[in-house]
Amino acid sequence: MTNTDTEHLQSFMQTCRQRVEEALDRRLPAADKLPARLHRAMRYSTLDGGKRLRPILTYATGKALEVPFDTLDGPACAVEFIHVYSLIHDDLPAMDDDDLRRGKPTCHVQFDEATAILAGDALQVLAFETLAADPAMAVTPSQRAAMIDCLAKASGAGGMVGGQAIDLASVGLQLDLPALEMMHIHKTGALIRASVQLAALARTDRDPAVMEHLDHYAKCIGLAFQIQDDILDEESDTATLGKTQGKDQAHNKPTYPALLGLAGAKRKAREMHEQAIAALETLGEQADLLRALSLFIIQRRN
Ligand code: IPE
Ligand code: IPE
Ligand code: MG
Ligand code: MG
Ligand code: MG
Repeated sequence: MTNTDTEHLQSFMQTCRQRVEEALDRRLPAADKLPARLHRAMRYSTLDGGKRLRPILTYATGKALEVPFDTLDGPACAVEFIHVYSLIHDDLPAMDDDDLRRGKPTCHVQFDEATAILAGDALQVLAFETLAADPAMAVTPSQRAAMIDCLAKASGAGGMVGGQAIDLASVGLQLDLPALEMMHIHKTGALIRASVQLAALARTDRDPAVMEHLDHYAKCIGLAFQIQDDILDEESDTATLGKTQGKDQAHNKPTYPALLGLAGAKRKAREMHEQAIAALETLGEQADLLRALSLFIIQRRN
């Protein structure tokens, strides 16, 4: 990648972050609306934090497929709402028991456990309400239904929640590579894949071959993303991450570095990035942002 590509990606990410921040803010319940504690918790965990990688992927796929951004704000918010809910619940004492998220106290620490559970619940529902009813989305009712179906499958027992269940059941176990991959594909990959699919579903005239290539790309970067998350948990620091470093080892979680070593995990992430790039081979320069994002995923420091 040239310097111009990097600058272009940086400025695209910044534009998307600003755009999605406003879109999330508009869709969240007001902080003073009753029940205010619940609404404040939802806003606290959602706003002003995170890399916003999933919304950025939705917009970048939209760029590749020429989907107007007004149609993508709803899907971008929906996938971020699910992601934030998954983080709030992931941090609960019953799960990873974390105190720090996005550089500030986790939701259950800042509020309380019951409020955190409910804020997660409400964000999950808000995601589907957004897809079902967002007035700015220029899509047909059947496209809306397909988007809801896509996000539901990615989020539920066959997707993120299922992956989290495997994660929790695997503590202290030595998983083999296929089992570890299965866990990562579900707990993280599914939602990243949906971020790309939701933008693709906004087009009615989809070319099945292009869709297949995009989907393969999305699966590869989804796995690369969680491998990098595991790597950073081992070799980064708490201040850079905005979450406590070293928790995977402390909790005896099966991770790529635990199984393959740091160098092996890095090799695997790089391999996934290369496969992602290869999947986009037939797409022209309109897919350059997606290419740059794949590299960003394995080079990111937080
Ligand atoms: C963290 O996701 C949880 C995983 C699925 C690995 P991100 O690294 O995207 O978290 P934010 O949104 O930037 O905080
Ligand atoms: C969580 O994976 C994936 C989710 C579905 C939230 P991790 O437990 O590794 O995420 P972090 O490291 O706490 O962000
Ligand atoms: Mg976890
Ligand atoms: Mg965690
Ligand atoms: Mg992690």
